[in-house]
Amino acid sequence: MSIKKRPVILDGDPGHDDAIAWVLAASMPEFDIKAITTVAGNQTLAKVTYNARRIAALLHLDVEVAKGRAVPLMSDLIIAPNFHGESGLDGPKLPEPEHPESSLSAIEMMAKVLQESEEKVTIIATGPQTNVGALLLTHPELKEKIEVISTMGGGIRNGNWTPAAEFNILVDPEASYLEYHSGVPVQMCGLDVTEQAIVYPEDWERIRALNNPVAKTVAEWFDFFFIHLSELGWKGATLHDPCAVLSLIHPEIFDIRDYYVTTELSGLYTRGETVADVYGITGNKPNCKAVVGLDRQKFVDYLVEACAKFEGWEVNL
Ligand code: BDR
Ligand code: CA
Repeated sequence: MSIKKRPVILDGDPGHDDAIAWVLAASMPEFDIKAITTVAGNQTLAKVTYNARRIAALLHLDVEVAKGRAVPLMSDLIIAPNFHGESGLDGPKLPEPEHPESSLSAIEMMAKVLQESEEKVTIIATGPQTNVGALLLTHPELKEKIEVISTMGGGIRNGNWTPAAEFNILVDPEASYLEYHSGVPVQMCGLDVTEQAIVYPEDWERIRALNNPVAKTVAEWFDFFFIHLSELGWKGATLHDPCAVLSLIHPEIFDIRDYYVTTELSGLYTRGETVADVYGITGNKPNCKAVVGLDRQKFVDYLVEACAKFEGWEVNL
């Protein structure tokens, strides 16, 4: 029986956890990846775009990679070399890109995919939400073509870049605000769930032992990503971005709540915070499926299963 495929756009700033999210997405027969779009965040736009093209080569993804916005809509760019290194994806050697960069911008590419698709398209946005915000501003007529925006960003309880704000949302709060006020369904994998999506060294040794080129690369991404996280006291790697992929296909292993959410744009201490109306105090209708928990062991098992699918893969390094 053939699986009905769901058209998706992968938008991100790879980044180790973006890269692992894309490995998951590429392994899943439920997804039809229509395009990859990049956004400045973990590193500069040029660096994350080069990384995206190398990841596409590793995964043999025959899709266009389109470069998005180099700076947030209204803020100065913040980058995260402490987690992801100078290249934005330090660690294992990767194949060189197989295809040239798209001649379209990320926003043009997203618009084209939405216009041409007969079905609604899912956008998985695992970096600052800049491209999606710009798309919503410039192409409001395409909103109804978006099935859901599945984001890694924000959280209800706490931040990781400031006490209140998570990195992706802090980088571009206005873009996040545009999403929550667009009327398009948003699924939020914030820190509530992603800081429970911990992958321990013994878990990624299971991946390394698979001994295929993608699995080995994933294990080495973990080796690098864990360096700074361990300095911060984490006992494993918090695998943020893959939650935005897996929660679409396996919602049964996640705890998902309907909340009204907005983004703080101005607070002295709280700019970039995603504020969820957990008790329904505002009377506003829920505009967000907030993912707040998961079954960690099943999450890890799905990740290992995904990496195992690259058995016999050939990569030219
Ligand atoms: C988010 O910030 C980035 O460093 C990661 O790729 C993830 O998207 C976590 O706060
Ligand atoms: Ca990311």
